[in-house]
Amino acid sequence: MSDNANLLEKRARLLGPAYRLFYDKPVHLVRGEGVWLYDADGSRYLDMYNNVPHVGHCHPRVVHAISEQLGTLNTHTRYLHGNVLTFAERLTATLPDELGIAMFSCTGSEANELALRIARTCTGGTGIIVVDNAYHGNTYTLAQVSTSYESDEGKPLTVETVAPPDAYRGEFLGDEAGERYAQDIERAIESLRSRGVHPAAFMIDTIVSSNGILDVPETYLRRAAEIIRSAGGLFIADEVQPGFGRTGTTFWGFEQHGFVPDIVTMGKPIGNGHPLAATVTRSDLIEQFASKTRYFNTFGGNPVSAAAGIAVLDVIEEERLQQNALEVGDHLIAELRSLAERDERIGDIRGSGLFIGVDLVADRISREPATDLAAAAINALRDNGVLTSTIGKHANILKLRPPTCLSRDDADYFLEKFEAVFAGL
Ligand SMILES: Cc1ncc(COP(=O)(O)O)c(C=O)c1O
Repeated sequence: MSDNANLLEKRARLLGPAYRLFYDKPVHLVRGEGVWLYDADGSRYLDMYNNVPHVGHCHPRVVHAISEQLGTLNTHTRYLHGNVLTFAERLTATLPDELGIAMFSCTGSEANELALRIARTCTGGTGIIVVDNAYHGNTYTLAQVSTSYESDEGKPLTVETVAPPDAYRGEFLGDEAGERYAQDIERAIESLRSRGVHPAAFMIDTIVSSNGILDVPETYLRRAAEIIRSAGGLFIADEVQPGFGRTGTTFWGFEQHGFVPDIVTMGKPIGNGHPLAATVTRSDLIEQFASKTRYFNTFGGNPVSAAAGIAVLDVIEEERLQQNALEVGDHLIAELRSLAERDERIGDIRGSGLFIGVDLVADRISREPATDLAAAAINALRDNGVLTSTIGKHANILKLRPPTCLSRDDADYFLEKFEAVFAGL
């Protein structure tokens, strides 16, 4: 039995069938460095997909910070320690002044779960509004609001979904789209109320990644915040994917929309692979929350995790990675758009910085999703040393979300492979 066949057999036997693997021919990775990943046979792959290694796989600065702190002390937040405070100070400094309280956990799911607890405690409501086909995490409550997740938890009476603000393939297009999509939130609020449920929060990934990395209509998020607040609920910005400068023009996705959320959640890139996440909010909300309950997370915000978080912020600053995401992302978007002019199968290129969606269509006019083509493309790219995956309700959108240290040369390498692979499909 080959090494991979052996691993596949063991995985099925030991991890069971709920797990999924990428690609028809799964990749067995053994090492990573910067934007490159290496498999067990020594072949290398350009990583165009993974946002967790935000500053690059195994960045020496992060590895050193974690290792040094791990060799010194690792406890929890019930003892005094400077790291968690330094990290909280550095992290909140990247956000608007009113978002000054940071609470730490280990996963994006935990950060979102805490955000929902805060919203429910502070508003007295229980209703949660999310966009259809969202993904916010893997706990019981979050699986109920993550309709992209094939779960059998079912949608409870406290959850209402709204149309994703898709200005390419969605229900509303053109100048009015932002307002029309926002009105759908009013409908959802009414729908909750008709069941006797008061809204606690509207929660959204500010780049709406699971719906295919949307160019969210300009007014939508701002109006959504007004609407949910006037109904007594809070706005939770899930920045687990777009945060930390990936979108290039701003450090946080919501900042592109000119408003301040009540709660911001973050995860994935925050520790460059070390399990770390945060829920950041206003002091008035936390005072209310703390008057009714308390918070402890055994691993969240421990000295090692905080050291990882500080190192990531250092590297983003010192290596100007937000600026790099903007420059290299603009280059990629421009080149992909020029390719789309020559290839009818590419219906739309959208996104911001190094967070780009390539929407593949069977027909440019009807915008019918080309699901099979997208599956063939990611497998062919994999066979040619480039890793990416698909996203969206129809899995027809290629998701380009590499480490933010991707250089212009790396982008050109990707474009060359992409064009060659597409020519052969
Ligand atoms: C937008 C968004 N929110 C939350 C999560 C949950 O994060 P985690 O897997 O760290 O629990 C994810 C994970 O994919 C995500 O994409």
